[in-house]
Formats: sequence, C-alpha cells, structure tokens
Amino acid sequence: MDEELKRLKSEAIEGLRNIIQEKDLEELRVKYLGRKGLFTGLMRNLGKASPEDRPRLGKLANEIKQDLEKQFTETQSKISSAGLSSVSESEDLSLPGRYIPFGKLHPVTQIMNEVCSIFEGLGFAVAEGPDVELDFYNFEALNIPKHHPARDMHDTFYIDESLLLRTHTSPMQIRAMEKQEPPLRMIAPGKVYRCDSDITHTPMFHQVEGFLVDKKVSFADLKGVLSVFCQKMFDEKIALRFRPSFFPFTEPSAEVDIGCVICGGDGCRVCKQTGWLEILGAGMIDPEVFKMVGYDSELYSGFAFGLGVERIAMLKYGIDDIRLFYENDIRFLSQF
Ligand code: DAH
Repeated sequence: MDEELKRLKSEAIEGLRNIIQEKDLEELRVKYLGRKGLFTGLMRNLGKASPEDRPRLGKLANEIKQDLEKQFTETQSKISSAGLSSVSESEDLSLPGRYIPFGKLHPVTQIMNEVCSIFEGLGFAVAEGPDVELDFYNFEALNIPKHHPARDMHDTFYIDESLLLRTHTSPMQIRAMEKQEPPLRMIAPGKVYRCDSDITHTPMFHQVEGFLVDKKVSFADLKGVLSVFCQKMFDEKIALRFRPSFFPFTEPSAEVDIGCVICGGDGCRVCKQTGWLEILGAGMIDPEVFKMVGYDSELYSGFAFGLGVERIAMLKYGIDDIRLFYENDIRFLSQF
C-alpha cells in the first residue's frame, strides 16, 4: 500500500510536468483526484489495511493528497499566467513564428558608418555641414577662384551667383578651420552633388573629407593614416600607391590607389587591367588655404583627403553600376 501510494504520487507529478493546457490539467486531476480517480480509489481501500497500519497509511495518504492538490493549483496558475489556457487545439505551439522582414541600413550608410568609425578610432572628430553651400566655401576659399579651370570638373548645380549644392565635402575644411585653431583632426561625411549621371556617377553621392592640422605634420603622416584606413577597410595586406596629382587646395597632391580587390593586382575588367583602383584624393593643405582662414603656414602644416563612399562600397562589394544604390530595389539592397 505504501509503495502504491508513492507510485501514484510520482506518476501524477510526472504527468503534471507535461501539461500546458488547462483542459489537460483538468483531465489529469480527474484521473487521480476525481471521485472515481486512482488516488481516491486507493484511499477507499484503506479500510482493508490492518488496524496497526491504518493510522500511518491514512496520514501518508492525506499528506500525499494535500501535496498533489497544491501542485495542481500551482500548475494551474502557471498556465494562466503564461496565457496558454486560451490556446485551442487547432493551434500548434511548436510551429515556427511568422517571419517579419526587418529593415536595415542602406549599404552606402553602412560603409559611411564604417569609414567614420575607423577614423574616430584614430582620434578624428566628426563634423557635418550644409548641402546648400556658398560659392565661397565650395570654391573661393579652397583656392578655386571664379573662372579657374578646376571648376569645370565639378559640374556644379548653381542655385544663384553665390549659392550652390556643394560639389565636395572639402568646404568643411574651411568651415572647421575658421572656427577653431590648430591642432585639428576631423572628418566630415555627407552628401555632395554634381550634374553627372552614368554607371559610375549619380547626381547625388557621398564623400568623407578628412583633415589634420598641427605643427610639423608631414606627408608621411598622411601616408600612415591612409594606410591604416585602407588596411582596416579592405584587408591587412592591401597594397597602396600614391600617384602625383593636382588639386588647387593641396600641394603636393596625390591620388591614392589600392591593389585591385577583385583580381589582387593581376589585372581584370574592374581595374581595367592595371591591377590598381583609385580610391581617394589627398595632399598637404595648400598655404593659400591657410591664408584664407588666418592660419600661419610657417607654423602649421596639415594634410587633407577626400574619398567617395559609393566608390568604396562598389569596390568592396564588387558592384559595377553605381545607380543600383539609388533605384530602391529591395532585392538589391537587402543583400548587404
Ligand atoms: N574634393 C576633392 C573632390 O571631390 C577630393 C579631394 C582631393 C579632397 C584632395 C581633399 C584632397 O581633401 O586633399 O574631387
């Protein structure tokens, strides 16, 4: 009898463990504790036990009954607090949830954030400026006076004589230097605009400008910073090449190439068989620019660079048409 009472108890407890619906709980309760239940039946048989055993067995049976009732109540409250009592039989709780697609950042935004966080890691502060810019900041102060041939390259959207959509982020150099004395270490990400459209140009695109001004800044510092950037952005072992170039606001100026990320330098369609890909323009800030903001170019020197964000995204992801970024085709965008 002892054994049987204990066996019933552990059976009932085992059964309780698998219960998630109120209906099943009730069934189980009836099976063990109901008027015709197993436990009740056993208790009725107590009368057949020997008189010496009867009090002990009666006590044991009562304890077990109370314990079981308590456990049933606990399970009941667990079920209702989980809200599972309302689950009907037609609902299958083991089915996977419904897929809700979530949005993500545009690939250009992702690359822009990555570029910024690399330079922030090197101690550069981030500044933003206006898309609608004065001719003065976009050109004049950057040593590109009216009628300078360099203006032709910019395909400018003019708003009026003195107002335009900025064609590059370089005006942020002037805005920052006007406000602040050296030392200065900044990047300026943002949208820029040019009247141009083909597979490598869109009328709006993104640049990140970077510049650093202090005493004794050299071209070697520029090379160091850009090497670290390219290694972090592309690959530890990426090759870097500085080609002499010209920008009115830097002297000397360079265009920087990386070893082709597609063919590794052997020559392919993307690098036009050269093994190199141009990724940014850079140079030492021209003393004429310092003059515009009242910096002493005998005391200070600095470097600047400007990179195209779409271009980096294209190289990194092997995309051959820049316009894909702006066609809002979710099938394209969701890949990144
Ligand atoms: N602003 C240039 C452009 O959009 C890029 C550039 C070149 C920026 C050289 C710089 C630089 O800061 O030093 O074509």
